[in-house]
Amino acid sequence: MSNKTVVLGVTGSIAAYKAVDVASQLTQRGINVEVILTEAATHFVTPLTFRSITARPVITDMFRLASVFSVEHVALAEAADLIVIAPATANIIAKLAGGIADDSLTCTVLATAAPIVIAPAMHTGMYENSVTQRNLAELRRRDFTIIGPIHGRLASGGIGLGRFAPPSEIVTTICHLLSRRKDLIGKQILITAAGTHEAIDPVRYIGNRSSGKMGYALAAAARDRGAHVQLISAPTSLPKPLGVEVIDVQTAAEMSSAVSEKISRADILIMAAAVADYCPVKIRKRKVKKADQRWDLTLKRTPDILAETAGCSPRPLRIGFAAETENLLRNAEAKLNQKDLDLIIANDITIPGSGFGADKNQVAIIDRSGDIEELPLLDKTEVAQRVLDRAVKLLAE
Ligand code: C5P
Repeated sequence: MSNKTVVLGVTGSIAAYKAVDVASQLTQRGINVEVILTEAATHFVTPLTFRSITARPVITDMFRLASVFSVEHVALAEAADLIVIAPATANIIAKLAGGIADDSLTCTVLATAAPIVIAPAMHTGMYENSVTQRNLAELRRRDFTIIGPIHGRLASGGIGLGRFAPPSEIVTTICHLLSRRKDLIGKQILITAAGTHEAIDPVRYIGNRSSGKMGYALAAAARDRGAHVQLISAPTSLPKPLGVEVIDVQTAAEMSSAVSEKISRADILIMAAAVADYCPVKIRKRKVKKADQRWDLTLKRTPDILAETAGCSPRPLRIGFAAETENLLRNAEAKLNQKDLDLIIANDITIPGSGFGADKNQVAIIDRSGDIEELPLLDKTEVAQRVLDRAVKLLAE
């Protein structure tokens, strides 16, 4: 980490004192830490505190020449390998979402191409306000990494969501982001995501609970590591990841033909989609009118897309998911063998806060030799990185 520069932006929250610990932990890892305090932050912590920890000048004012950087916000924006804003108030989040640049920190963020991490800390009401949530959604769309806030005791004395994430968690995430290599440059990755819709009539369909978050996280992570990514997506409300070629499909049959069309150029296929196993035998052209008697719907099997790609040549690395409610590892391993996969990602969808629809996932990665890597409950973005780490290793072999 010794050749890395992190810009630490501190804003005016009572949690500002915890940013001192973030600065200290980063400095101890040999990272060059350049601190920018907003005017409000200087009321909670002093520049001298950060200067003593980082042994670097601290920027508090755009118009004072405090450091060796010539035009500070531009120089720091370019020097940064990563920018972290910790704590981030509702105010800075709103400014960043709106593109406002009225102080050193906002100018630096606006001018940078480096990854940006924010750790919000505020009163629960401010955090849950729809304006703040909309602003955070905008930052997520622009690939900001958002850590926390967590649930716990707040400065107001109450208990709720809004507490600053533990500094050690922030530092771990920063180190992970800094150590990611561009190890998928020149690779073509085909990813499927979300749950297919199998039409019954023009109004109704058979669907499932997949949100698409895991597949979309994989697509964004592969793109960040330099891959050319094609994402075959079943319906979802998620925004399309920038810099990824998205092919929209509705049904298992459409997904199957899109995969067959694209697979010959793929180095890696990751089937994260929840493909319907059955679809109606007959799709009604007109809406079926409701009646008093019961309605029996006859279903047929859909193609098993992943299994069908087993014999394709050239053969890409093939990775599947197994969402299970019982006998997780045994069922997942059986699927890996049946579909002749290189890796299978097993997730127990009964774990609260994990799997379908959630932002986190607790998975085990199983390979052909039967080796099982059990991961803790992680953000889907982090699970995506771990899956890609394994794929990169297998490609190298
Ligand atoms: O057999 P099962 O549906 O549990 O297998 C899950 C894996 O197979 C997932 O990777 C899923 O995307 C893929 N699959 C498929 N075609 C289907 C059903 C599942 O490619 N019809």
